[in-house]
Amino acid sequence: MQDVIEQLSAGREEHVQKLIEWLRIPSVSTDSNLKSEVQKAGQWIQAELRDAGFEARLDETEGHPVCFAQWIGAEGAPTLLIYGHYDVQPPEPLELWRHGAFEPTLEGEDLIARGATDDKGQALALVRGVCGVLRTRGSLPINVKFVIEGEEEIGSPHLAGYLESHKEELAADVALVADCSQFGPGMPAITVGLKGLVYLELHVQGPNRDLHSGSFGGAVENPANALTRMLGSLRDEEGHITIPGFYDQVRELTEEERASIRELPFKEEEFRSDLEVPRVHGEAGFTTLERKWARPTLDINGLLSGWTGEGAKTVLPAHASAKVSMRLVPDQHPDEIAELVQNHLHSICPDTCTLTVHCHHGARPVLVEQNSPWLDATSRAVEKGFGKAPVMIREGGSIPVVSDLKETLGIDTILLGLGLPDDNAHSPNEKFHLPDYQRGIETMAWLLEEMKDC
Ligand code: BES
Ligand code: ZN
Repeated sequence: MQDVIEQLSAGREEHVQKLIEWLRIPSVSTDSNLKSEVQKAGQWIQAELRDAGFEARLDETEGHPVCFAQWIGAEGAPTLLIYGHYDVQPPEPLELWRHGAFEPTLEGEDLIARGATDDKGQALALVRGVCGVLRTRGSLPINVKFVIEGEEEIGSPHLAGYLESHKEELAADVALVADCSQFGPGMPAITVGLKGLVYLELHVQGPNRDLHSGSFGGAVENPANALTRMLGSLRDEEGHITIPGFYDQVRELTEEERASIRELPFKEEEFRSDLEVPRVHGEAGFTTLERKWARPTLDINGLLSGWTGEGAKTVLPAHASAKVSMRLVPDQHPDEIAELVQNHLHSICPDTCTLTVHCHHGARPVLVEQNSPWLDATSRAVEKGFGKAPVMIREGGSIPVVSDLKETLGIDTILLGLGLPDDNAHSPNEKFHLPDYQRGIETMAWLLEEMKDC
């Protein structure tokens, strides 16, 4: 492996330049004006894989395309399916960025840009690692397939269908995704649990037009008052969700799991002071990490009604709306929870106004089987690439493809995190720590070697 690692190390500058090129493409999947840019980002990674010797295509879907690539010359050896996403979250609010969101800029050892860590940086680390081996050796120790999609940040609406219709071609022994983070600087991690997601949009309609709040207030229901009353009732003082049946399927943490979470060197005071909140907050009876990783949550993600412009306007708004999401844990099912919550909302909506609920994307929660040779191989590779054995953690985020892979291809997924918890994913000044990018690239090369004998 000396030859490969030396090559990868000598390529450090090129790895960064390539990432900068990719990050310059504003592939925001939610923004219909940027459809061609999203496409360009897909073409970019296709060309990257093709140049290294992969057979690579860009497959159209009803949404953004999927880049599929494979090298399957290792007869009899295992097959690894690597997933990543080339779409990114919207960069807004733009004024909070220190540089343009799509003008990647170096600050010390950090590269700042939208998508730096989520997920272009992490996905490219895997691509560069595999391609480096192929370039140096002319072959790979195992078979490798790539699926790099452009719709993860909008819930991967067309991916399950894509996997289903390309089932034979995508057949693999195990999948690898790098779209999480390390536990902290110098503390690499493998993620063994992800939360699921249900995302609802609520509209409350009151009178047919905005009204004078003096002339009509008190005589006609204010939809903003009604909506906030409803939303306020969804959680109690102790942070429990009050929707009947919501916790029915929640798998409680075992004493063993709680003990292993307690052993991690989590610094609650640093967590608090970094966010500049007076006190941490969450469901009573659980620690911060347990709340973040293993307890379901309910949050208002957006709230809109009435006058929000400058100054005061005495108005009784005609309409109020909110976006509300719930993060789920095993064994909650997004469809069941969505139905339960919608029914509950309708039951508590006063008959003085009209509620409509729209259900956006969802994702299933994930628990990774820890007793697995693939996971052991990944641990050894991380130890070689990062110089330190990984800890096993869970995360509060969601990655829809993981359950789709299990369902359609019947394979488990290994979740690697190359980023850091303070990388500002989805926020202004998103970053990727470049030494971790390099370690990720080398880890990938080690992993191919380690998986050879699985
Ligand atoms: N990279 C994240 C998932 C993630 C976040 C993993 C935090 C670990 C920690 C991914 O790109 C993402 O943001 N997913 C969405 C999924 C949703 C749109 C279905 C999420 O979690 O909000
Ligand atoms: Zn994301």
